[in-house]
Amino acid sequence: MKAVVFDKLGGPEVLRLADIPKPEVKPGTVVIRVRAAGINFADTLFRQGQYLIQPQLPDVPGVEGAGEIEAAGAGVSNLKPGQRVAFIGNKAYAEFALAPAAQVIPLPDSMSFEHGAAFPIQVLTAWHMLHTCHNTAPGQTVLVHSAAGGVGIVAVQIAKAAGAKVIGTVSSDSKAALVKEYGGDDVINYATKDFAEEANRLTGGRGVDLILDAVGATTLEKGIGCLAPFGHTILYGRAGGPPEPLNLFQLFPRSAMASAFTLNTVATLPDLMRRGIEEALRLVMHGKVKLIIGKSYPLAEAADAHRFMESRQSTGKLVLNA
Ligand SMILES: NC(=O)c1ccc[n+]([C@@H]2O[C@H](COP(=O)([O-])OP(=O)(O)OC[C@H]3O[C@@H](n4cnc5c(N)ncnc54)[C@H](OP(=O)(O)O)[C@@H]3O)[C@@H](O)[C@H]2O)c1
Repeated sequence: MKAVVFDKLGGPEVLRLADIPKPEVKPGTVVIRVRAAGINFADTLFRQGQYLIQPQLPDVPGVEGAGEIEAAGAGVSNLKPGQRVAFIGNKAYAEFALAPAAQVIPLPDSMSFEHGAAFPIQVLTAWHMLHTCHNTAPGQTVLVHSAAGGVGIVAVQIAKAAGAKVIGTVSSDSKAALVKEYGGDDVINYATKDFAEEANRLTGGRGVDLILDAVGATTLEKGIGCLAPFGHTILYGRAGGPPEPLNLFQLFPRSAMASAFTLNTVATLPDLMRRGIEEALRLVMHGKVKLIIGKSYPLAEAADAHRFMESRQSTGKLVLNA
């Protein structure tokens, strides 16, 4: 089968299309004929050896996608060959991928493979931060960093659906327009304005109740300066580099809370995983969350897709068609 392989760590140029053996089905798993693989910022870190999980070279990136089940392993009774699904797995930049049955999501007939590939990681990450880590509710203000990105534009919509006011931060005016189009109440272009000062101004000095922060180095500490009393900041990524160690005394003045989130934790809790899938899929099916495919590429152009994501110009979800 065709797959995107890298033999050494490095820039996007290390990604190349190659022929490798198809994965074999194992008990409790399914093999999926991948039609669309989702691209995540984490894949660019994985390619450089900077992600939580280290590649086993030669390796294949990709942790999610959508397609049809090719084969179901022993003990898998609820999934059948031919069924359309989305999945969280690994080595997804390929024509076939293996996924644990518990991480396979039957796709509604009306949902395309590209939209299916855009669902698992980004929508579930946004949903769990807003509804598992925090109880987002009407009257609250949520500040979403990287608001035009894959997780960000979904988080804006889920927070709005929960009744919150949403402030997004972005690095360009064109991204700001997109965030407004998808429900952002206010958008701060941090290339021209200090986001914390602006968030305090926009909330009349009260500050925001929740910050979703996957930038890290340049945002975590500064964000604490625009939290409301009992406000909460969630660190869930490090696109801008790992933050400096946080001095908890900085949380005292407003009795604030700082926490962290990774979807990997949810993946160890099947009931919570299922609940998130049901609730988030309902928001998509009711039109409260629209999945944006920013750009799609053929498998052979995975390196270009990574370049585009790292350029900070991408919006919504990038996908590879396999
Ligand atoms: N914890 C989890 O389980 C989990 C799950 C999914 C994603 N994540 C994290 O969430 C973040 C967003 O992921 P995504 O796949 O949806 O990507 P994305 O938001 O579509 O793209 C990354 C965005 O980060 C912003 N950014 C800020 N500083 C940057 C820098 N120095 N270099 C590159 N980009 C920078 C850019 O937006 P602006 O230029 O507009 O700021 C860029 O467009 C990533 O950090 C990812 O690792 C975490």
